[in-house]
Amino acid sequence: MAMVTPPRYGSDPSLAATRVDHAVLRVSHVGVSFGGIQALVDVDLAVVRGSITGLIGPNGAGKTTLFNVITGLQPPDTGQVILDGENVTGLKPHKRARLGLARTFQRLEIFGSMSVFDNVLTGAELSQGWAHPESASPREVARRAIERVGIEAIADNRADSLPVGLARMVEVARALATNPQVLLLDEPSSGLNEEESVRFASLLLQLAKEGLALLLVEHDMEMVMRICSFLYVLDFGRLLAAGTPLEIQVNPAVQAAYLGTEA
Ligand SMILES: Nc1ncnc2c1ncn2[C@@H]1O[C@H](COP(=O)(O)OP(=O)(O)OP(=O)(O)O)[C@@H](O)[C@H]1O
Ligand SMILES: [Mg+2]
Repeated sequence: MAMVTPPRYGSDPSLAATRVDHAVLRVSHVGVSFGGIQALVDVDLAVVRGSITGLIGPNGAGKTTLFNVITGLQPPDTGQVILDGENVTGLKPHKRARLGLARTFQRLEIFGSMSVFDNVLTGAELSQGWAHPESASPREVARRAIERVGIEAIADNRADSLPVGLARMVEVARALATNPQVLLLDEPSSGLNEEESVRFASLLLQLAKEGLALLLVEHDMEMVMRICSFLYVLDFGRLLAAGTPLEIQVNPAVQAAYLGTEA
């Protein structure tokens, strides 16, 4: 993959606008209600290539719902999802996947009775014909994705025999096997020990360096603050703040709503 120099975002007032201009994925005025609950209200967000964008907020803030809107599992009541310049708001999930959108799930969605390798192979096979050259065999693509994530040692194990942290890595490998341009990760490091988390964070940084656009929902604040170049904070379905990790850390509204209650 070609190296891409990420745009430099300082903390100037036009930061958000600059991001929107460079966005490969854009969410605009998205609203979702479940009966009386407003899960998302007028949410705007931009995800750029070559960097990790964080999406944080307390439990129930609407993070997973936003992922579902972006990937097509949840139709929004209002607003749009723009992927690579195309309005995909009405497209089915598999069509969005074809445009280079991949994700992992907070509640694991791997096939328990299949091996790790076969789980990852489903990603490679699904995307054969559009994400890989004709000559690339899906098995080879799967093997590389497994190697990339560092789970070769468990490739032949049944997925339902794995601890949750490793099962999440299988989802990451399966997503990578589709050769995405945008990758959404919903709490990927929960269940990993400290050493595994550090290694995983390095992998995410390396993927960003290679040009991937990542949107990360993560409860590990130390990791978020260290590897994300920009953060969006959701609270009760509304965007409470957006900015660099430093700006977010010193934002009083964020501290009150979220960081203050984290410890
Ligand atoms: N399918 C659904 N039907 C009804 N309510 C839902 C549904 N999905 C989510 N909600 C509600 O929408 C709100 C946002 O939930 P969501 O799962 O998106 O939050 P979250 O930020 O991902 O939380 P967490 O950090 O706990 O994963 C919550 O009040 C939740 O109960
Ligand atoms: Mg969630």
